[in-house]
Amino acid sequence: MIAGCACRPQSLLTMLSVFHRLSERLQLALDLSFPEQAAAARAAGRPLDPQLVAASKPEFGDFQANGALALAKPLQRSPRDVAAAIQAQLLLDGPFLELCLEPEIAGPGFLNLRLRPEALAAEVAARLADPQRLGVPQVGAPAQAEPVIVDFSSPNIAKEMHVGHLRSTIIGDALARVLEFRGHQVLRLNHVGDWGTQFGMLITHLKQVAPQALTTADAVDLGDLVAFYRQAKARFDADETFQTTAREEVVRLQGGDPVSRRAWQLLCEQSRREFQAIYDRLDIRLAERGESFYNPYLEAVVADLDASGLLVLDEGAQCVFLEGVSGKEGKPLPVIVQKSDGGFNYATTDLAAIRYRFAAPPAGDGARRVIYVTDAGQASHFAGVFQVARRAGWIPAEARLEHVPFGLVQGEDGKKLKTRSGDTVRLKDLLDEAVERCEADLRRRLAEEGRAESEEFIRHVATTVGLAAVKYADLSQNRTTNYQFSFDRMLALQGNTAPYLLYALVRIAGIVRKGGDGVETNIQGRQPLAASTAESVSLHFSEPQEWALVRQLLDFDAVIAAVEDELLPNRLCSYLFELSQVFNRFYDQVPVLKASLAARDSRLALCRLTADTLKLGLGLLGIATLERM
Ligand code: ARG
Repeated sequence: MIAGCACRPQSLLTMLSVFHRLSERLQLALDLSFPEQAAAARAAGRPLDPQLVAASKPEFGDFQANGALALAKPLQRSPRDVAAAIQAQLLLDGPFLELCLEPEIAGPGFLNLRLRPEALAAEVAARLADPQRLGVPQVGAPAQAEPVIVDFSSPNIAKEMHVGHLRSTIIGDALARVLEFRGHQVLRLNHVGDWGTQFGMLITHLKQVAPQALTTADAVDLGDLVAFYRQAKARFDADETFQTTAREEVVRLQGGDPVSRRAWQLLCEQSRREFQAIYDRLDIRLAERGESFYNPYLEAVVADLDASGLLVLDEGAQCVFLEGVSGKEGKPLPVIVQKSDGGFNYATTDLAAIRYRFAAPPAGDGARRVIYVTDAGQASHFAGVFQVARRAGWIPAEARLEHVPFGLVQGEDGKKLKTRSGDTVRLKDLLDEAVERCEADLRRRLAEEGRAESEEFIRHVATTVGLAAVKYADLSQNRTTNYQFSFDRMLALQGNTAPYLLYALVRIAGIVRKGGDGVETNIQGRQPLAASTAESVSLHFSEPQEWALVRQLLDFDAVIAAVEDELLPNRLCSYLFELSQVFNRFYDQVPVLKASLAARDSRLALCRLTADTLKLGLGLLGIATLERM
């Protein structure tokens, strides 16, 4: 067998399905080679570790086990000696030898492991038989019982839903999809900013300038509402009487005054509908649970913090001082929990939200992991709130609490994204423009190729590609860096873009279709290949380009696991892009449709698995695919 291509990403995780089976065999080999140490280590709750990782270079095989080095000292033997003992044990192990060729000792005492061609082919066959999951396992029942919460999108009522919210929406949705695919019960929560001082200002202002907006649904549209909010804010900042009235209005609202409540509801309703239009367009599901939801729990937050002795009265405000975070003059920074006027703020609501999310049902969500997708500018807010929640004892020991930050969206000039006239860009306009540009490109291409297509087809393709391009451009960046929004770049047919990948998929599915016969694809929504059929197509590969593609395909499960853990969707994007490149090399250099009968079926099977993997991967990013374009 020939080594994989050098472009394979060097990660510790690779071919998880095989990795787990190999780990078991190595564990057993350690137990049998060093029974006393193994028993003692097990009794101490830390079984001997074979230290299995992906091979650092393709020349070394597929995996290497580095455990011998750490074992040498306690065993008082040389590392190579220890490696030889493990090697001897593995050579007696039938299941191991079904997976691997004879292991080799290398360097100071590494064991290099090379998978058998038949084992790799069997793995390919197993995935072909499972187009729904492609070898990605599902988490077990205990994990399913405790939800993972993804807090994303979360725009603010009566304020503009801006490109930062678009990033949060796209990234949050992709992460939620991956977590759902792994079998987690995911709560997709929209922590809408629907509470607090902005309503006091807005209601006071509207009462004076547009009272109908507070009593009649749809009297103003969101664009106006945003303008009204800006005016209200300007008045609030300039006019003390207005300030007092606005504050009183907040108190009335929070006290449940029916007139204020009704006005608030109308305003929320209106924004909600505008947000929903964007979500529908982007195919995003999201449950609204705005800041107002936590209003009844705010008092309890303060009481809890007080009871655990964390609360300090500082200049009239109730604060928790942060450990290890100091501001100017080295003074520790506080999280303000209750302001001197008795009001609560953004941080208090987030504390109430954390407390609720981890609390056992029915008093809370009983979450095992809570993920917040916002711009990096909120990093210190979350760091502070997380620390307070931890010290208050609201976070169960094994639970994960994570801020998933992302950088700013910038224009091509590197500055804040603006329209030509200098206004903030409306999301709707941005999506419209992506689709319009796609449509123009498509019409040009059809004219060049002399192709006639229906208007329906053109609209469908343009909409799918346009929205895919916006999403993919965002997801394919490492989210922590700032991101330059460029229609030209995201719509390019070459490079790491959605149009490129969508074309690649259409082309590969076309090859599979042309190949016809036994290797039916599920791309066209046909029935997945039955397991028995997959087994009956016995797969044989001989060329290095085939093996490179096989290995890249088999890495899919490891990539999904990495995204689940690290919450970086760009890992999946890079993987899919690399997959299409490895495929191209294979297809350019190895005959498929014109191959000998024996080779043809196996190669077509690789084409089909590539198409299935691209389709599933894009789906997990929230990107719809096309059959023709
Ligand atoms: N509404 C906030 C904003 O627009 C984002 C809320 C994020 N979620 C949270 N739990 N704080 O910046």
